[in-house]
Amino acid sequence: MKKILCIVGTRPEAIKMAPVILALKADPAFECVVLATAQHRELLDQVLGLFNITPDYDLDAMEPNQTLPKLTAKLTIALDECLAEIKPDVVLAQGDTTTVMVSALAAFYRKIPYGHIEAGLRTHDLQNPFPEEMNRIVAGHLARWHFAPTTSTRDNLLAEGISDEKITVSGNTVIDALYDVAAKPDAPKPDIPAGKRLVLVTAHRRENFGAPFENICRAIRAIADEYPDTHIFYPVHPNPNIKSVVDKLLGDHPQITLSEPLDYLPFVGAMKSAYFILSDSGGVQEEAPALGKPVLVLRNETERPEAIDHGSVKLVGTDFDVILKEARRLLDDPEAYEAMAIGVSPYGDGKAAGRIVDVLRTEVV
Ligand code: UD1
Ligand code: UDP
Repeated sequence: MKKILCIVGTRPEAIKMAPVILALKADPAFECVVLATAQHRELLDQVLGLFNITPDYDLDAMEPNQTLPKLTAKLTIALDECLAEIKPDVVLAQGDTTTVMVSALAAFYRKIPYGHIEAGLRTHDLQNPFPEEMNRIVAGHLARWHFAPTTSTRDNLLAEGISDEKITVSGNTVIDALYDVAAKPDAPKPDIPAGKRLVLVTAHRRENFGAPFENICRAIRAIADEYPDTHIFYPVHPNPNIKSVVDKLLGDHPQITLSEPLDYLPFVGAMKSAYFILSDSGGVQEEAPALGKPVLVLRNETERPEAIDHGSVKLVGTDFDVILKEARRLLDDPEAYEAMAIGVSPYGDGKAAGRIVDVLRTEVV
């Protein structure tokens, strides 16, 4: 039996690794060991609980407002010690967080083959998203297996000289998780006044901290002021750089509900109930198109061009006027709205985890 170590650190990694962890645990060819760095604490625990995953190791790394160098240094040493103890045959980690970059590095130092899930996403701009573009380049170049969600992410890897036989176009495991959770009955819906159009908001990107994020908040407020038939529902990321600004700029508006981060099940319920979504999240850009919900992306660049090409996602950046103009288009123009509210799933078909496990069964067992 081959020992596969699955490492997760933050909320989106847990959502996207859960289908792989559950598939490995169901397969007698593998022993699946789960390590949580707990770069996130409450956000991570919410997701692991929903999928009934209990980590075998927990590094409890989160500290309030922790710096990236401190987190990186701490995780590098702790993960190396864990690898020495666990002695896995393979390490798997998903995405582009600090946890993922350090997982790939720690595996490299111990000469343990590393599989990168959600490989090949690129903006080709190291500052956007920061530090994720660097994290995924480093993880990618240390990987033995690249599980690319789409053909264009595979092309990005080929262009960087990664050989084709190391790449599998698997689809994104987020769609496995989404379909699984969306099929559960009775996802709670946000408690907002009846008859209002729900605008769902999420935001957390480091490159938006400061003035760009203040612009985003002012635009959200302007939407609420201009459209009395809307209600903004905003589960706020606990990062203090976000939360303090949101509370100050949006805390007192009768048409804006700020909430704690939602568990994944009610968050999927909120996406389903939304008229449209304003977000800088990577995962939401992948999920919302599959649910037929338009997304205005609060970023200047995205590594996920596929849904933009399909017309269901639009990049609007962080400029007050542009955000407001694009929100007005969706709220005022039914044709423009219908053109974006198409159900498409360019990131996956819900079967990505099975493809990943198949590759490992063929090549490792
Ligand atoms: C991290 C990832 C980002 C990912 C995002 C998903 C890095 C550098 N950033 O950003 O790529 O898109 O997670 O949400 O890897 N906090 C809590 N409770 C939690 C989680 C966070 O209080 O459960 C607060 C803490 O003060 C913590 C801060 O948020 O120090 C920042 O957390 P961190 O993981 O460093 O960055 P994120 O902005 O969450
Ligand atoms: N999400 C959630 N609860 C929330 C907000 C988001 O469960 O209150 C989910 C969302 O559906 C997506 C993931 O968290 O799957 C995205 O996480 P985040 O935006 O924090 O990170 P990113 O995807 O940008 O790395």
